[in-house]
Amino acid sequence: MNNDLPWWQTESLTVQDGALCMDGVVLETLARRHGTPLYVYSRPTVQRQLRVLQAMLAQVTERYKVYYAMKANRHVGVLAAARATGGVGLDTCSPREVETALMNGFAPEEISFNGGMLSNRDLAYLAGSGVHCTLDSFSALRRYGEVARAGTSVGLRFDPGVAASYGQQPKMVYGKSKFGFDVEECAAALDAARRAGLTVDAVAMHIGWGLPQSSADLVDWAFGRLAEVARQCPTLAMINVGGGLGGRYLAADQPLALETWRDLIGKHLAPLGAAIVCEPGTWVVAPAGLLIAEINTIEARRSATWVGIDAGHALNPLPALYDIPLEVISLCAPLAAPAMVANVAGHINEGIDIWARARPLPALQEGDLIAFFPAGAYGASMASNHCMRGEFAEIVVG
Ligand SMILES: Cc1ncc(COP(=O)(O)O)c(C=O)c1O
Repeated sequence: MNNDLPWWQTESLTVQDGALCMDGVVLETLARRHGTPLYVYSRPTVQRQLRVLQAMLAQVTERYKVYYAMKANRHVGVLAAARATGGVGLDTCSPREVETALMNGFAPEEISFNGGMLSNRDLAYLAGSGVHCTLDSFSALRRYGEVARAGTSVGLRFDPGVAASYGQQPKMVYGKSKFGFDVEECAAALDAARRAGLTVDAVAMHIGWGLPQSSADLVDWAFGRLAEVARQCPTLAMINVGGGLGGRYLAADQPLALETWRDLIGKHLAPLGAAIVCEPGTWVVAPAGLLIAEINTIEARRSATWVGIDAGHALNPLPALYDIPLEVISLCAPLAAPAMVANVAGHINEGIDIWARARPLPALQEGDLIAFFPAGAYGASMASNHCMRGEFAEIVVG
């Protein structure tokens, strides 16, 4: 490994002749042409990430399926890239997502649905859509049974019972949360499904967002619990391990290694013989995207030195609302050494609209462009129009 390379460099995100490039496209030129704020997504990265995951699963089972979680990024180009990869379905969590998946060429049998707190309207749509649904409450089982054809297959989602996530942040932990049956309720949930006329063919668990390597023991325990419920299900065809795989957000991050994840699936779940299903969002698309913004203000105040930009947390809630850091890269001098320490703030009228605090940054000037990375997941797909600052462009390269 070349230690001179920045941690964020990927096969697609590179520095060429001193300029930041995505798949060979000079980002400064692209952003000057299309304006800022601009999301740029790398098609090759989406496909590479998906293929790596498929290859990993193939090492522990012959029967697996990757459903890309489109909630992370539903840009048509990203969905097309996922589809063109081959063997990849879409994971959805709302009727509108199902409709979008269908409109983008995915057949109902290539679409999984995994959502909670579902209305009768949602359930009626899902029953008619032909997509496989994973449900997570007695109420949803009962009401789905009233509208779905007798014998319709469903999955049951279980609460992982552990607090595992990026930085152990409560907002990204799914154990003891609003989602899923308790493992101890498995027999009752199976019984409720039977009474509703549904066939349980899958058990599912989504453990947490951005799982770090330090959570390996918790993932080990949770997959063991998932195996317990899988064994109780006589009509089991699939075990769904959800998403949760992440990448680095800052240099010091140590995400759960794919090999660890694979080994834990191999230890607990693959031997049960059912197909292994996963629903990755972040893993697939986070490193495929960055958000480019223009600096409009640089000013030293008593509070700090502030770098102001033309994009706020309306376009990407991760730093401001979830305390998830993003790397800040200068487009014209991506390898320059730090020359100042500053806060980077957006143009939304809220004190929380801060992208980075006390961050070492290279020498920057008003009018310069910076990129936030990795910004492909849960950025554009979670954008709002707060303060009517919701406009941005998206481009797929590669
Ligand atoms: C049930 C389920 N599956 C998959 C995902 C995708 O997760 P990630 O982006 O961590 O891969 C989520 C995210 O919230 C989820 O709730």
